[in-house]
Amino acid sequence: MNDAPIGIFDSGVGGLTVARAVSQQLPRESVLYIGDTARSPYGPKPIADVRKYALEVLDTLVDQGVKMLVIACNTASAAMLRDARERYDVPVVEVIGPAVRTAMSTTRNGRIGVIGTVGTIGSRAYQDMLEVNERLTVFAEAAPRFVEFVEAGITDSPEVLATAEQYLAPLRHAGVDTLVLGCTHYPFLEGVISYVMGPDVSLVSSDSETAKDVFRQLVSRDLLASPDAVPHHRYEATGSSADDFVRLAHRLMGREVREVQLVQTG
Ligand code: SIN
Repeated sequence: MNDAPIGIFDSGVGGLTVARAVSQQLPRESVLYIGDTARSPYGPKPIADVRKYALEVLDTLVDQGVKMLVIACNTASAAMLRDARERYDVPVVEVIGPAVRTAMSTTRNGRIGVIGTVGTIGSRAYQDMLEVNERLTVFAEAAPRFVEFVEAGITDSPEVLATAEQYLAPLRHAGVDTLVLGCTHYPFLEGVISYVMGPDVSLVSSDSETAKDVFRQLVSRDLLASPDAVPHHRYEATGSSADDFVRLAHRLMGREVREVQLVQTG
């Protein structure tokens, strides 16, 4: 048993979808979340910069005594998962593997679509893991403006719909029956993405799948919080305005995030 918090990190608010799923599946666990809002979005940045920023944030979480690290950002997972697993003694969970496994078991026609940031799609992390199975055909598209919309709190405007139609048209024409939302911001756009793809396409998002991985790792390493643990949820951001982060979190997820502390990393 271990009552230390689980450290969860994203470039901004997207990883809150993973934090929420972890708290739903593991309500006794404490969570320490950092959104690297000062350097968000990671998607368009060079991989070397993303790796540096992400390691700085993970170092900050480890310095605060977390018992596990969750890289709740696809771009960062693609850029530095191996470095993180070598660098830290605590277990590291990421978001790409869980979504890949679910997509593989969900597809019926073997045609899988993946959308993500420019960094994630360019890294081919999803494509390489899925194409290990020769029966699968993968169609990948970068959807960078989706992150901008979510970070602006816009999830259902006509502009989001038009952008979704444009990004998703090649995947609809390819006849995918499963679409991986390869960015932790995208679950906030599930309504519009599902509307455009149609009811026959299954959407796979990293949040609940990653939370299941967190569950598995905690149990197998005997790291679950004790039965009488009182969970604490602390949210930190690297940007200049805690109020902006709280306002955006309220708009996207209700009143779960009450307070944010500003921190510096690196
Ligand atoms: C971003 O920072 O550009 C998006 C985060 C992600 O890839 O999940």
